[in-house]
Amino acid sequence: MSILITGGSGYIGSHTVVELLSNNEDIIIVDNFSNSNKVSLDRIKQITNKEFKFYNVDCTDEKELEKVFKENNIESIIHFAAYKAVGESVYEPLKYYINNINSTLNILNLMKKYDVKNFVFSSSATVYGNPHKFPITEDFPLSTTNPYGATKLMIEDILKDIAKVDKSFNVAILRYFNPVGAHISGLIGEDPNGIPNNLMPYISQVAVGNLEKLNVFGGDYDTHDGTGVRDYIHVVDLAIGHVKALEKLRTNCGLVIYNLGTGNGYSVLDMVKAFEDASAKKVNYQIVARREGDVPMCYADSTKANKELGWKAKFGLKEMCEDTWRWQSKNPNGYR
Ligand code: UD1
Repeated sequence: MSILITGGSGYIGSHTVVELLSNNEDIIIVDNFSNSNKVSLDRIKQITNKEFKFYNVDCTDEKELEKVFKENNIESIIHFAAYKAVGESVYEPLKYYINNINSTLNILNLMKKYDVKNFVFSSSATVYGNPHKFPITEDFPLSTTNPYGATKLMIEDILKDIAKVDKSFNVAILRYFNPVGAHISGLIGEDPNGIPNNLMPYISQVAVGNLEKLNVFGGDYDTHDGTGVRDYIHVVDLAIGHVKALEKLRTNCGLVIYNLGTGNGYSVLDMVKAFEDASAKKVNYQIVARREGDVPMCYADSTKANKELGWKAKFGLKEMCEDTWRWQSKNPNGYR
């Protein structure tokens, strides 16, 4: 029996594949490299010394995807493949709805047809909208501010509807906070296309000399230093969260929802400082206007994942920065 990983060559996907292979799971990766690089697959093999099956398939193509279900005995699916740039989703909403929703519907449809029962879904803290109390627990009200977030919330709703009527369907909705860091080998890591939207890859590209300076979006938030606060989580901790979620699904648990964060909130300037310490490089920055759609603060209560999955983030800010720097300095241009 195999685990199908969609988006397995991407940032979180590749780290999760490494953890699963290390646990001796049989892995099938489906990816179309729309926002990732095939080199990451070689690197996964280099790290683990293990083999896996790979299909270059776009999950919106149900016919092609069906071949993967036909040719394999799939036990569980972890669905990472999706578009994820918030800003772009505002300008190209249809692109996001078509890709993120259709790919998920195809997978769910094929799961039904081929009697696959376990599904792990990559959701995001973005489904909490603009929360007014902290830390955020899973029962907080849900809302979104952009089409990317809307696709995450719509898919959560679809999964809840299915689980309501199909008691044999096991689904883990994992709401990620802000993934950063890289595998300790420095062989795999975050490799955004073009200029990064997210903070950590931006900082690391300034440190390595690819970008001149960081624009800090807003210095007048009601936070300890005026800059935005987030719950940054090491991508390896996040990957282990998926392994634990899969174990949970194998107990026939039905639908479960977990926040995956550390519970610590760090500001943009905290991150700059920690990165400078880890890299011994200066990170130039300037404070500019707030970015539209940003919330002042966001951090998780992950007690539920701790209690029910036995999962807890073990890496701190120092490792997050050191591992990001190892990846970025060994691969100044990512996988290219
Ligand atoms: C963003 C998305 C979120 C998504 C997540 C995926 C928005 C509003 N939210 O989270 O839905 O799930 O990415 O990783 O985009 N910052 C700067 N300068 C930069 C970049 C970021 O100051 O060049 C600041 C931001 O204002 C924020 C913090 O850094 O305070 C983190 O930003 P980012 O890494 O983009 O993540 P989020 O916005 O939290």
